[in-house]
Amino acid sequence: MTVGEALAAGTRRVGRREAALLLQHAARRSALELVTRLDAAVPPRSVGRFLRGLDRRAAGEPLQYVLGEWEFWSLPLRVDRRALVPRPETELLVEEALRLAPGLPKRPVLVDMGTGSGCLAVVLARELPAARILAVDLSAPALDLARANARRHGTGRRITFLRGDLFAALPAGVAADLILSNPPYVPSGELAAARELAAEPALALDGGPDGLALLRRLAREAVDRLVPGGYLLLEVGDGQAERVCRLLAQGGWEEVGTVGDLAGTPRVVRGRRPGSGAGWPG
Ligand SMILES: C[S@@+](CC[C@H](N)C(=O)[O-])C[C@H]1O[C@@H](n2cnc3c(N)ncnc32)[C@H](O)[C@@H]1O
Repeated sequence: MTVGEALAAGTRRVGRREAALLLQHAARRSALELVTRLDAAVPPRSVGRFLRGLDRRAAGEPLQYVLGEWEFWSLPLRVDRRALVPRPETELLVEEALRLAPGLPKRPVLVDMGTGSGCLAVVLARELPAARILAVDLSAPALDLARANARRHGTGRRITFLRGDLFAALPAGVAADLILSNPPYVPSGELAAARELAAEPALALDGGPDGLALLRRLAREAVDRLVPGGYLLLEVGDGQAERVCRLLAQGGWEEVGTVGDLAGTPRVVRGRRPGSGAGWPG
């Protein structure tokens, strides 16, 4: 089978863009190497890998799982069924954490609650080399994946991975300067109907009947695990920001506000534990 024949066969099943990505991955070749050599034969082992990948993708598995790797904040991360595929909107949490970082202590303590693939913990460990990071998840397989990603990017020693139910996982006495979380927030009923989410772990997505079960707990429980003046950053679903802002305001959080994505949709809610500390930077 030539490169051109493989691309044509793949395009019929999953479209040109995905066929090209799957072939690059299977043949371990760049896009340029493939398009400039359409007549070259694809080695039989690569053809086998390509066809198996096509089958998985055509059966509805996310492209990212089939490729086994995906970029977050321009960092290639291993991704598979053990954890959620990192989404572009989650980069807003990184942006906001970095915006706040100059106002944090020199060696800040950060908590990534529900670390999944470890995308937030690993990126923040690289961006903030003085930070100590605690990354929590209830899922042992997700933590294994997160540890592998941390090792791959040389941050394994700077992140402490902990298994448990939200803050119960943290050692007694730990008080963070910043807690960030992309919790499960899809309403259970929507999740059951969403075929495109079926391959990802329900534990990473299911936010209970109204999607806010974990967000409510975070709004209630995080305050005791922050230093006075410490920050909470929460990713929320489209349409949830107003309700989560209200939860934080009712819970006594200060400086409650939102951060919008490129389309202006609020996707991050922030709050600050009452206490000492300067105002918002910027
Ligand atoms: C939406 S995923 C986010 C993963 C990753 N941080 C990201 O942004 O791609 C939520 C994560 O929270 C974890 N999780 C769900 N319930 C939890 C709980 N009660 N305590 C700790 N982690 C939990 C899930 O296993 C999952 O990895």
